[in-house]
Amino acid sequence: MALRGTLIWTCTLAVWFSSASQDDSETCSLDAANLTAVVEEALQCGEALPWSGQQTAALLLSLSSLTHRLQQHQLKECQGAEPRNCPEPEVPENGGLACVTADNQRLCKPMCNHGYDFAFLRMSRLYDKCSEQTNYKWDTQYVGGNKLAVCNRQSLQIAGAKSAYFPKDQDCRTTKSVRQLQNNTLETFISEVKNKGMAGAAQHACLVCG
Ligand SMILES: *[C@@H]1O[C@H](CO)[C@@H](O)[C@H](O)[C@H]1NC(C)=O
Ligand SMILES: *[C@@H]1O[C@H](CO)[C@@H](O)[C@H](O)[C@H]1NC(C)=O
Repeated sequence: MALRGTLIWTCTLAVWFSSASQDDSETCSLDAANLTAVVEEALQCGEALPWSGQQTAALLLSLSSLTHRLQQHQLKECQGAEPRNCPEPEVPENGGLACVTADNQRLCKPMCNHGYDFAFLRMSRLYDKCSEQTNYKWDTQYVGGNKLAVCNRQSLQIAGAKSAYFPKDQDCRTTKSVRQLQNNTLETFISEVKNKGMAGAAQHACLVCG
């Protein structure tokens, strides 16, 4: 990696470490685009990473903390939607949830990445609901909780409707990282909800990845 890149990388790490010790309520001025650029640059190195075992271990440590924090951060995107009495549904690993509010109901559609399938048949059960009618609980196939679905590794995807699977090479995170792809996924879900007879406007549409 070029010296410039290494310097930026080191500076970025310094910003990370100093911001990690700060109070969460302080705003962090770190620009996501800069950090992404540095990480991409490191990825360009391929196998030729010039770092010692110690540096590599330290990086792994901070990167996994950051990954965890980023994951928590992106989960917040769906929080606080109407109806507010509904608990947050669990987001399945190896997939995600597309959610929308319509007609005073919160509707969430579990989706699995390519190569993963639902544990239970849900072909005709495109989404799960939470509303006053359900006593603000999720009407899920899993009794008494906020788990809507799990995505297990499977070569065949047969348990769910076709639109409940992210395309090959376009998993939930890839979809979410490209505005147009996320928009397509949410618009598909909204039209499915409308086809099932929802009359009101779709609000609080969001996609979160597990
Ligand atoms: C960070 O990104 C901004 C634009 O997004 C750019 O102007 C700036 O030079 C970048 N900083 C570094 C250290 O690369
Ligand atoms: C998708 O994009 C269109 C056009 O920009 C916009 O009107 C619509 O609100 C978007 N849908 C969602 C769910 O963000």
